[in-house]
Amino acid sequence: MEDLSRRIREKARETGAVILAHNYQRPEVQDVADFVGDSLELSIKAMETDAKTIVFAGVDFMVEQAAFLNPGKKVLTPEPGSICPMAWQLDPPVVEEYRRKNPDAPLVVYVNSFIEVKSMADYVVTSSSASKLVSKLDSEKILFGPDRNLASYVAETTGKEVIAVPLNSYCPVHVNITADKILAVKRGVPDAKVLAHPECPPETRRLADFIGSTSQIIRAVGEINAKRFIIGTENGVVYRISKLYPDKEAYPVGEDTVCPNMKKITLEKVYRSLISGETVVKIDEKLAEKARRVLERSFALLGVETPWSRK
Ligand code: 13P
Ligand code: SF4
Repeated sequence: MEDLSRRIREKARETGAVILAHNYQRPEVQDVADFVGDSLELSIKAMETDAKTIVFAGVDFMVEQAAFLNPGKKVLTPEPGSICPMAWQLDPPVVEEYRRKNPDAPLVVYVNSFIEVKSMADYVVTSSSASKLVSKLDSEKILFGPDRNLASYVAETTGKEVIAVPLNSYCPVHVNITADKILAVKRGVPDAKVLAHPECPPETRRLADFIGSTSQIIRAVGEINAKRFIIGTENGVVYRISKLYPDKEAYPVGEDTVCPNMKKITLEKVYRSLISGETVVKIDEKLAEKARRVLERSFALLGVETPWSRK
């Protein structure tokens, strides 16, 4: 494995490629990457890099967003079959239907969605920015999708009426991080702090000492004055915490708290991608232009610095 990692680094240097990886990637893929982060951080990194080629170790909607935000760059996915099933739960006809029924409500879409949907939205958010952006909107009623759990979290934290679009979409990994499972882990480590992703069900979130995106959870471990933490999200985050904070203890909710799609990307596939220059993510430029405008508006409202805002 070490030999393959070394060859990947050499090839990335030779070809001038940058490797970006999500916090849920396999440990060895995280270790070989130039940058590891959450959805928002990865989008910003993709825009900031001078590299002409980006190898993106993440699921389909993340890779697509990196590609449409960077029209001049080549974005490669090491495994096109690495999909986010939740992103597939929201499609344009559903968006149109909710829009028609709620003409006065702005549509905020989660980054876990595709370019067609993003280009129809008023704003795009990530788990780290959803509540902040919605609280800034001049409307008490919001359409939000996909993910009924993040929608209910945004409603709880902003006090607004948040309608989930569609009503019953969820992440198959986080929906299984139940309150019962958290309590079972906590029986073994009663002094542990509970950290949870907002995609977890409301009963799980109620047990949490901290709720945030994958990178916010990782940072919270460094900031909270405690030794033990139960990690209410995918287990790639547990690996990252063990690497960054070796003096702290991170407990997964279960050995099976794993996103199988994120794990489809292996070192071999990253290497093959660098060697073959495949698979290039293709984007419809008209849709890309619309989606970029929505992202630009969202980043501006959040005060997020991007290469665009610095121009
Ligand atoms: P983050 O934006 O927190 O990294 O989450 C992405 C995701 O897919 C969560 O399941
Ligand atoms: Fe999608 Fe859930 Fe996997 Fe995140 S953990 S990529 S939301 S399936």
